[in-house]
Amino acid sequence: DQTATQGGDEARWFTYDIVAEDPGTHARAGVLHTPHGDVPTPIFMPVGTKGTVKGLLPPTLRELGTKILLANTYHLSMRPGEALVEEMGGLHEFMQWHGPILTDSGGFQVFSHGEFTKLTDDGVTFRAVDYDGTYVSWTPEDNMRIAQSLGADICMQLDQCPGYPASRSFVERAVELSSMWAERCYRAHDRRDQALFGIVQGGMHMDLRLRSLRHLEECGDFPGYGIGGYSVGEDHQTMFETLAPLASEYMPREKPRYLMGVGNPTTLVHGVECGIDMFDCVLPTRTARMGSAFSSEGRLNLKNARFTHDHDPLDPGCTCPVCTGGYTRAYIHHLVRQREMAGSILLSMHNVYYLLDLMRRAREAIVRGEYASFVGEWDSLPAARDW
Ligand code: GUN
Ligand code: ZN
Repeated sequence: DQTATQGGDEARWFTYDIVAEDPGTHARAGVLHTPHGDVPTPIFMPVGTKGTVKGLLPPTLRELGTKILLANTYHLSMRPGEALVEEMGGLHEFMQWHGPILTDSGGFQVFSHGEFTKLTDDGVTFRAVDYDGTYVSWTPEDNMRIAQSLGADICMQLDQCPGYPASRSFVERAVELSSMWAERCYRAHDRRDQALFGIVQGGMHMDLRLRSLRHLEECGDFPGYGIGGYSVGEDHQTMFETLAPLASEYMPREKPRYLMGVGNPTTLVHGVECGIDMFDCVLPTRTARMGSAFSSEGRLNLKNARFTHDHDPLDPGCTCPVCTGGYTRAYIHHLVRQREMAGSILLSMHNVYYLLDLMRRAREAIVRGEYASFVGEWDSLPAARDW
């Protein structure tokens, strides 16, 4: 039994090493060590909400260079239920992905079903509108028990994510509640082969962001921090007014910083510039299912008739298996028009690869100490205006 020989040395399960710090920006390159393998940072994490990344099976995810996947505690607790996942050997075994996994708490999903949600200090009651419409109540302890049954390498605290715009008093209350829940999650969490991250909230208010961070630091020694409550409707500039100082000046240097729910390429490039290490988003796979591709020219809608006779790959500069595999825009246009599964799959492969590769190249630029020029080059691309 490995736990028995641990001797309190949690560092052996989960550590974060900084490999390089860019001299011209706040960007850093690092490695997250998890029980299921190492994750180079900065990193993009594809989202497999219900225990599958839509359209992409594990061998394909590996081929694309995926290092860590996301899944969702709320969805998996509804169907098939955490007890079943645990009975089947845990989430890694159940979905046959043997690399690292992070589970989000479901706080975000619960609050996107606003009208039926009831909050108390003790937790949240909500109507599972995506499923059978029954009322579900979670205390922070319940949420941790579910996360521990699923057995991801990293789990997130239960939090409240306010939308935008929101009144200051509403955001303030969300910070208070999230802080209280952080403490209860921290105390309830005892699975030592799993890291629990706290989540900084505070909307677009710098003082509330700092208050939230301070609460988390006082509450215990979280091995990493999520930054929640962004990409909820604010514009790019509004987001970075508080995100940039928070990440680059106030968050502890030695811990990984995870910007939650953000996947547009320009925000990734600028997020890394202010010191973000991890990102996740459904954007690449959702965009793919809508028939669109990321490219250096910007967003391509493959349904468009202009691709009917197009011999080019999705993005001529891309080195993904789709773009280097001989698949033309004309072919993918045809598949998308016919609603063939292969169209969504090929676009999902390309889009996921696009973000993984963007972060891989960002990391190389950081290691070379040239991240500032990497940002400059990105900002001069047509794609930078699209996303
Ligand atoms: N995903 C995107 N934003 C958030 C957030 O604020 N909290 C959680 N738990 N997940 C998120
Ligand atoms: Zn490609």
